[in-house]
Amino acid sequence: MSFPQQRLRRLRQTLAMRALVRETELSTSHLVQPLFVRTGRRQRVPITSLPGQYQFSVDELLHETGDLVRLGIPAVILFGIPAHKDAQASGATGIVPQAIRVLKKEFPDLLVIADVCLCEYMSHGHCGVVKNGRVDNDATLPLLAKVAVAYAQAGADFVAPSDMMDGRVAAIRAALDRAGFPETPIMSYAAKFASAFYGPFREAAGSAPQFGDRKTYQMDCANAEETLREVALDIAEGADIVMIKPALSYQDLVWRVKQQFHVPVAVYNVSGEYAMVKAAARQGWLDERACVMEQLTGLRRAAADIILTYWAKDVAGWLRA
Ligand code: PBG
Repeated sequence: MSFPQQRLRRLRQTLAMRALVRETELSTSHLVQPLFVRTGRRQRVPITSLPGQYQFSVDELLHETGDLVRLGIPAVILFGIPAHKDAQASGATGIVPQAIRVLKKEFPDLLVIADVCLCEYMSHGHCGVVKNGRVDNDATLPLLAKVAVAYAQAGADFVAPSDMMDGRVAAIRAALDRAGFPETPIMSYAAKFASAFYGPFREAAGSAPQFGDRKTYQMDCANAEETLREVALDIAEGADIVMIKPALSYQDLVWRVKQQFHVPVAVYNVSGEYAMVKAAARQGWLDERACVMEQLTGLRRAAADIILTYWAKDVAGWLRA
């Protein structure tokens, strides 16, 4: 059968009709709000490259998180801005565990995800230990494992390694199990690409590499087969949820990973993807809300279970209204 027997417009005539046959739902229960936490008190420092996002001191973080919880947002992911940086990333076990403790005490049902990476805490801005001008994979693993255990001890519901060192999921899993946290799940940034779309985050976190770039550890945007290998390895090492990052340029991979591995898949709608729409909307060139709903629905249609997005709070408000 084809036209005129078939008329696909028949089911598009009213809002109710379109809703009845809508295949993909975007709901607040799948959203994760990224939050930046810094030292100090009563600090809510606007991030210029991410309009509407802030670096919060822990007391302000509590206020903000209260709003998120009331909006029904199930989860946040924390990034730390330490008071000082060094070559051992010692700040990694300072502000974030403190924030986790406070959040979990106040909001026990909120899922607190701790991003595990060293770049925000390293003076050189790389995600691992630097030796002889190179990021040393194996020297980084014990440090990542130690940081992950500190976050679990503070009460994190998930640890989320985003460093892209080989073998880090296995190292973290073993360390968590040894420390008495066999039930703490790992949400691994399994396929994290060396992306230009992280630009605003690096301003937000002050984490731009001071020399070179991240291409020796983050993936080449051209590679799909390698993505499947990364995901397979992370699952074999004990990842419970795998993440693809960034989101918009990598939706084919979300789909392929879901089809092949049948595990929960997260996508990270990154800072540059947020900033682009914000900038165009400010100019009056795009309708922010409509664009965001379209993009996030697209990610769900691509089979993403979980979406990390700076718009989580806004979207939760829009869906409720
Ligand atoms: C840390 C990390 C980065 C992001 C999340 N975790 C930055 C990077 O790899 O440079 C980017 C998030 C975003 O752009 O929104 N390794």
